[in-house]
Amino acid sequence: MQTSKGCIILAAGDGKRMKSEKPKVLMEVLFKPMLEWVLDAVSAAGIEDTAAIIGNNAELLEGYLKNEPNVQIFHQTQRKGTGHAVMQAESFLAKLKEADGDVLILCGDAPFMDSETIEGAYDCHKSQNNDVTVITADITQPANYGRILRNGERLEGIVEEKDCTDEQRKINEINSGGYWFKVAALLDALPKLTTENKSGEYYLTDAVGLTGNAGAFKTTNQRVVLGANDRRGLRELNKTAAQITIERHLDNGADIIGDNVLIGADVVIGKDTVIMPGTIIRGETVIGGGGVIGPNSLIADCEIGDNVTLNNVHAFLSKIEDNVKVGPFVHIRPDSVLKNGVKIGDFVEVKNSVIGEKTAIAHLTYIGDSDVGRGVNFGCGCVTANYDGLKKYRTTIGNDAFIGCNTNLIAPVKIGDNAMTAAGSTVSTEVPANSLAIERGRLNIKENYDKNLKRKKKS
Ligand code: UD1
Ligand code: MG
Repeated sequence: MQTSKGCIILAAGDGKRMKSEKPKVLMEVLFKPMLEWVLDAVSAAGIEDTAAIIGNNAELLEGYLKNEPNVQIFHQTQRKGTGHAVMQAESFLAKLKEADGDVLILCGDAPFMDSETIEGAYDCHKSQNNDVTVITADITQPANYGRILRNGERLEGIVEEKDCTDEQRKINEINSGGYWFKVAALLDALPKLTTENKSGEYYLTDAVGLTGNAGAFKTTNQRVVLGANDRRGLRELNKTAAQITIERHLDNGADIIGDNVLIGADVVIGKDTVIMPGTIIRGETVIGGGGVIGPNSLIADCEIGDNVTLNNVHAFLSKIEDNVKVGPFVHIRPDSVLKNGVKIGDFVEVKNSVIGEKTAIAHLTYIGDSDVGRGVNFGCGCVTANYDGLKKYRTTIGNDAFIGCNTNLIAPVKIGDNAMTAAGSTVSTEVPANSLAIERGRLNIKENYDKNLKRKKKS
């Protein structure tokens, strides 16, 4: 579909100072590649057509962008500057020009650009009928950013740090690296760019001075300009990102106790949930209200209901319904479902299993590849033996069953409703409903046995 808004993300810089095998834009801020932060902001601003300019390590980026069907890839094989990078998307721009469109250009390494800024700048761009609208900010330490040259409300151009006069270097208004261009004006300016500057590169910033009518959208959100050149810078971005997400959750009514809590950018937390110290919540996790998560928990990509307690729990890609209590020291591995009111105690691992309502697994137990009914009680030290060295098999346990301490359930195996296994039993055949399975060797008693006999003989 032809739309009149598009976006080009510049992602061909190699970021040598990161000392990484990965391209810079795939370096992560709060567990999410910088490029993904930018792509999310662009789609939150309702822009569907996006082009990414990629350079070295193209394979890694191509692999990553496979999951982003709206993003067209353009290659910049030689790194000749931001203007040169934009030139690589000529066919993308030509299409947008036909629709008399505008293009947003963003840096793939500035993760905090947000949809409010993008939309605010677009409104300014349209209402002032600008050829280009540069997103700018006043910052106290402008070093290394391009400086904005103004004539009142209008922009005369942008001068890069390296090319600044001493006087220009004192300017605090800087170029964020984000712009809205009228596509026709950009296509007029690009062929006029030269490499006559200290870096010998085609600067996109020069296109600003070459258009007839340049304006600025000055944001007060100084975070949108932040980027990282090395690991120290990345750490700063992580700190800032952590602060941004924590503030958002506090504003939404969650309590976050202590400083050592990290919450990913896309996590959702309900009201009155308390996050205790030492906790990391990441990925697409959604948590309901009234719960207590932590201390010392790692929760990734989980759907968690209301009033859930997770104490010293590692949980991944699982669903935990309302009123579930888990922990301490529990591992919930992918594809598990803990239904309403489940209780799981210390040193328990659950993998790829459904645990029915109000079932209790109190201590030292492994439940893997199992379908467990409601109201089941597991004694201490139960194991579903799901793997025979070649294949994995499922265990099925009916409602209200009682699995005695130290039961081994050798899958595939079924325990019927309301059935019971005696402590210490190894069960490898089906146990019908309402029956008891007991598997034990005979107990031998040697009366009047002197337990110290051997020692006495020796001496
Ligand atoms: C650029 C701007 C500067 C602005 C700053 C904001 C220019 C000339 N300068 O400077 O005014 O204040 O961003 O952060 O544009 N890239 C390519 N191909 C290239 C060169 C760069 O794709 O050949 C990409 C990089 O991956 C990066 C973005 O363009 O995402 C900006 O490049 P960078 O080298 O970081 O430019 P700065 O010197 O920071
Ligand atoms: Mg930069």
